[in-house]
Order: sequence, then structure tokens, then C-alpha cells
Amino acid sequence: MKPSLSRRNLVAGNWKMYYAPEKAQAWVEQYIQEYPTNAVFQIEIALHVPFPFITHMCNILSKYTPVQIGAQNVAFAYEGPYTGEVSASMLRAAGARYCIIGHSERRQLFYETDEQIVTKIELVQREEILPILCVGETAEERQANRTQKVITKQLELIFEKQEDLDLKYLTVAYEPVWAIGSGKPATPEQAQEIHAFIRELFRQECGPEMANRIAIIYGGSVNTENAGKFFEQPDIDGALVGGASLNGHSFFEIQQQLQQIKYPTPPLPN
Ligand code: PGA
Repeated sequence: MKPSLSRRNLVAGNWKMYYAPEKAQAWVEQYIQEYPTNAVFQIEIALHVPFPFITHMCNILSKYTPVQIGAQNVAFAYEGPYTGEVSASMLRAAGARYCIIGHSERRQLFYETDEQIVTKIELVQREEILPILCVGETAEERQANRTQKVITKQLELIFEKQEDLDLKYLTVAYEPVWAIGSGKPATPEQAQEIHAFIRELFRQECGPEMANRIAIIYGGSVNTENAGKFFEQPDIDGALVGGASLNGHSFFEIQQQLQQIKYPTPPLPN
């Protein structure tokens, strides 16, 4: 049963810094093979590719399938002397409809701060790009029983600046850092507990309507074998998929599981 008519469901792939153009082409062929031409998906599907592939992937995928293309990062300023950075308006012009923001790899390796992250959300929303905000604790933080504290802190500025953001169109990805790329996902129950906690934070800070509406997806070693177990949880609205999104067949299979679990009555074809 869908908990709310207005809650969005999303499968988002994250290619990270993988794939030369020939491999991207092979991926598209795999994906298209799976994709039935009359399929109707009520879920959202986004694929986050490296910057130089955005326009090409929009042209070959978004035109023929419901897959929207996203970026994996954006600059924290509108424009300026920021060598090597890519602005939100440039992403929009390239065709991006989604953007991952605050992925733990960026927080850890590129020292992204919560202040920069909230600015990035604001900047992409101005360009009508849908942000996916990543939050999650490290193994040490979990062991020290600090998971809820860490996540509360990561969301604090979002709540403080809620007047400047359009939170209805925000997706929160709960990605425990220890589960990313490790082949050791959280259990569906562990993930559900934190998703319910995040939803409760939204209830306290923004009210029940927003809490019910906000899309919260799980990320960290999601694959075709375990995805359905996550999607059966009431507060898990989809997945952010890294490794398994590198295979077109697996990515399709995961989105099909989300569609079937959240919308058990098949929609009529167009
Ligand atoms: P993973 O990556 O699915 O390979 O664990 C998830 C992510 O980093 O978003």
C-alpha cells in the first residue's frame, strides 16, 4: 500500500567516476533491451553520470525512456573564478534534471561542509533541478551510538533555511557510509528505523504534511537481490544505487521492483 498519494518514489543510479564513452553506449544497449516500449512507470528514475556524459545520455536515453539524467555534484556559487567547477545553470543547460548533493565521498574527500551543501541545494532548485541530499553516519559513529545525532546535525541547516528551499521537491538519501561500496548493506530494519527517524525530524521541523511528502531513499550496497526488501519498508521510498547501476540490466530490474512494490496495480499503458 502506498502510504501517501503525493509521496514520490525514486530509483537513482550513481555511476561515480566510472565508464568511458564506449561502455556508456553498451550500458544503454543493455538497458534498452530490458525496457518494454509500452511500459508505464509511476516512479521517477534518474541516472547520475559524469559531467561530460550528461548531454549525450539525455539525447540517447531520456528521449526514449523515463530515465532522467542527473549530475553528481554542483558548484557552491552561481558563477565566478572557480576553476574546474560546474554551475547549476550549466548543468541545466547540459540537460541535467537531478543532482546528488553532499555524497559522503564528497564530504570526506573534498571536505564539503553543511553550509556549502545547503547553498548547492538552493542553487540547483533555482534551475529547477531536483536535489538528492545524502546523509549518513560512519561505522565509528554508529558504534558510538551517534547515528541520530549525526543525521540531525546534517539536516539542521536545511530546516533552518527551509523558507529559502522548496523541500517538497527534495529527496533525502540515507546512505550509511559503512554500507557504501562495501557489499554490506544495512539490514532493511536498520534502514527503516533511520528513515522513520528522518521523517519524524521533518514532522517536528516542517509539519506533518511535509513529513508525509518528503521522499527518503536508501543507499549503500543495494542490488537486485536485496532491493525489494528495502522497498517493502513503509518509510523507504526508493534507492540510490552505485555499483549495481553500472549494469543496465540490474538498474532496470531494481526500478521494476520499486514500481511493483509501491504500485502493485499495474497502470494502463499509454
Ligand atoms: P553502492 O554506492 O551502491 O556501490 O554502495 C551507493 C552510493 O555511493 O551512492
